[in-house]
Amino acid sequence: MEKSLTIAIDGPAASGKGTLARRIADYYHLGHLDTGLTYRAVAHMMLQKGWPLDDDAHAIEAARQVDLGNLDKHALSAHAVADAASKVAVIPEVRRILVDKQRTFAAQPGGAVLDGRDIGTVVCPEAPVKLYVTASAEVRAARRLRDIEGRGGHAGLAEILDDIRRRDERDMGRSDSPLKPAADAHLLDTSEMSIEAAFRAARAIIDGVLAGQNAS
Ligand code: DC
Repeated sequence: MEKSLTIAIDGPAASGKGTLARRIADYYHLGHLDTGLTYRAVAHMMLQKGWPLDDDAHAIEAARQVDLGNLDKHALSAHAVADAASKVAVIPEVRRILVDKQRTFAAQPGGAVLDGRDIGTVVCPEAPVKLYVTASAEVRAARRLRDIEGRGGHAGLAEILDDIRRRDERDMGRSDSPLKPAADAHLLDTSEMSIEAAFRAARAIIDGVLAGQNAS
């Protein structure tokens, strides 16, 4: 039977976990799901319909409609959507519905890479590889600013930093599935690392786990 490999990647906003997850999925030929997009899809629908973000019943309805095969990355990348996503993500029933869909994705033949906030702790607690990718809030804000400017946009560093801190507080402080490293996660602080160096470090961790599995 083909071996299955699940890789769980968690970390705060703008930590670089998404870029890393994509590189890892390509390298190991695995499917990839950015689970943040599922929360963003709920938020996007709420904003479009003009529903208040704390309207649980409508948020639950929106969560049921999320289709993993039809996540419009471009529409979901807006800043307002990200902020709203971290608000609807506190609703336990929304999480339960999305986590079910994420687990179905994770169970695909061969395995998958999932990135988010609660993958190692809640969605895939049995994943043999768990990475917790982090960087200081200042470094994350500077990276986000470079990103925005690289796309021809403008923003203020102080404003971005505030925003990142607010989102960290909400994501780490909620009572249901808060962002935190799983007990058996490998910590990867990328504050002083290039994406290339972070990718090399992640590969060393993953290859180590695979070697251990093959030996046993
Ligand atoms: O990773 P992101 O910026 O696209 O995530 C947007 C929001 O979605 C994030 O602030 C909190 C929520 N989220 C979550 O609660 N659990 C996940 N597994 C992924 C994202």
